[in-house]
Amino acid sequence: MNDMDKAKKLAGEEAVHYVKNEMKVGLGSGSTVYWMIRKLGELVQQGLDIEGIPSSNQTAQWAKDFGVPLTDFSKVAQLDITIDGADEVDRDFHLIKGGGGALFREKVIAMAAKELIIIVDKSKLVPHLGSYPLPVEVLPFGWEVTAKNIALLGAQPIIRKKDEQIFVSDNGNYILDCSFGEINDPKKLHKQLIQLVGVVETGLFVNMANTVIVSNGSEVEVITS
Ligand code: 5RP
Repeated sequence: MNDMDKAKKLAGEEAVHYVKNEMKVGLGSGSTVYWMIRKLGELVQQGLDIEGIPSSNQTAQWAKDFGVPLTDFSKVAQLDITIDGADEVDRDFHLIKGGGGALFREKVIAMAAKELIIIVDKSKLVPHLGSYPLPVEVLPFGWEVTAKNIALLGAQPIIRKKDEQIFVSDNGNYILDCSFGEINDPKKLHKQLIQLVGVVETGLFVNMANTVIVSNGSEVEVITS
């Protein structure tokens, strides 16, 4: 295991300490979350009584694999806690998410939670957002027009592909990866994007995280807002 994987594992495993009996837990997506779900599964085997709501089909599969019980929003109005990864975290705890294409459901479980805990390896901590192209989920119909309108805001949108085919999110939508350069005002940019016809959601998570758990592979640091 390389240092980055060790860091993801440590950060993910640390996060389960925040999960208490009878909690409803939002389960994020990505390789850091994988370690969190694996550890959570161990605690469930030992008697921890929780239910999770997954933010992607992959996460739902991992939860099943590791024995973490699942529920959904028809039965649960509010989550106690959501634990998720991120692609970038700035000093004000603004986030870029969506590297795995799950940003819409990730935002839903983040908004529905009393507390949002972000788990990252140290490379994700940045002074300013924007080195990582911002993922924006868009409706397939007319995505080319939506991309042109996003470009007018100063980005270079690229349609996400997988195996040379357009990547399709779990919601049946497309992802535009948008390089804006340094993002100085994430709140303003999110507002500009979300009002464009065709935009479903942006990967900008503004003022949402309460705690960031960071690891370099040997140590864990917990930063609270
Ligand atoms: C998926 C996400 C992930 O949380 C983000 O991409 C981080 O992933 P990883 O833990 O694999 O680095 O936003 O949509």
